[in-house]
Amino acid sequence: MNDVVLTGDRPTGPLHLGHYFGSLANRVRLQDLHPMYVLIADYQVITDRDLPGEIRRHTMELLLDYLAIGIDPAKVTIFQHSAIPELNQLLLPFLSLVSVAELGRNPTVKDEIAHSSQAAVSGLMFTYPVHQAADILFCKGTLVPVGKDQLPHLEVARLVARRFNDRYGEVFPLPKAMMGAQPMLKGLDGGKMSKSRGNAIALSATEDKTALLIRKARTDAERLITFEEERRPEVANLLTLAGLCLGRPPAELAEEIGDGGAATLKRVATEAVNEFLRPIRRRRAELTEGDARRILAEGNERARERAVRTLEEVRAAMGF
Ligand code: TRP
Repeated sequence: MNDVVLTGDRPTGPLHLGHYFGSLANRVRLQDLHPMYVLIADYQVITDRDLPGEIRRHTMELLLDYLAIGIDPAKVTIFQHSAIPELNQLLLPFLSLVSVAELGRNPTVKDEIAHSSQAAVSGLMFTYPVHQAADILFCKGTLVPVGKDQLPHLEVARLVARRFNDRYGEVFPLPKAMMGAQPMLKGLDGGKMSKSRGNAIALSATEDKTALLIRKARTDAERLITFEEERRPEVANLLTLAGLCLGRPPAELAEEIGDGGAATLKRVATEAVNEFLRPIRRRRAELTEGDARRILAEGNERARERAVRTLEEVRAAMGF
């Protein structure tokens, strides 16, 4: 079977190196192997916050991040929820296929509710995984590169596809998750790398900002640098970061640094990251806002054509 790849991100802030090594690098590889869609999931931003915030700026930044890392708009359809009415319309029949009890059991939704700062949990919080099923199924996506937290949502998409096919006839292929094989990159404070925790290096960070972030990174007091993930997680994480950027095993870097201490480790990591980000920064600087807007408009048009065809098929199968 010919796979179709679909993946996406919520436009809530800049992408960082954790995203890059966790999933973005994989996308750049996949774009040469399969037809691929990348979604700027703008309607999903209002699942866990009351307002979309600076949605236009975040959308543009996400798009520039994609283009800067080498996602090629000639190969990949980059598009946004809010530009594709027919994708959003799939939500209605899809919601009829899922029970309220099933919506309430989704562990990722439960976790997001537990961490939410909203005064009240909205209906969208419970139903966005079904909307996400529409994201995947509108283009008959079969391969979905995602992190572990997204697996329950992928199960929803499979459930929706299976039930639709059972009730109305074979329309949708069952999508599969594709998990990255990369080691988990932690933030510079040893916690989960996250834009909201201030411990992440954004792909758009300047050289100076990168140097500053790494200078402030937590380490330990031992002078001899060794790669021991359990005993010395912060040191190991900087070695992992430098190793990923240099394409070298972290233990080998540790041996080279030897008794150079944290200062040498940080210098090595800073140079590795800045070297790695140089071509990405260069591509970003070459792009104009006009280019970006044109690329998104073209992607939206292609995605919309696809969504129109699927919605027609869905209506016909259902007898509307
Ligand atoms: N929920 C995903 C996230 O928060 C973003 C997303 C929206 C997505 N639609 C998708 C991911 C479809 C994969 C497929 O990161």
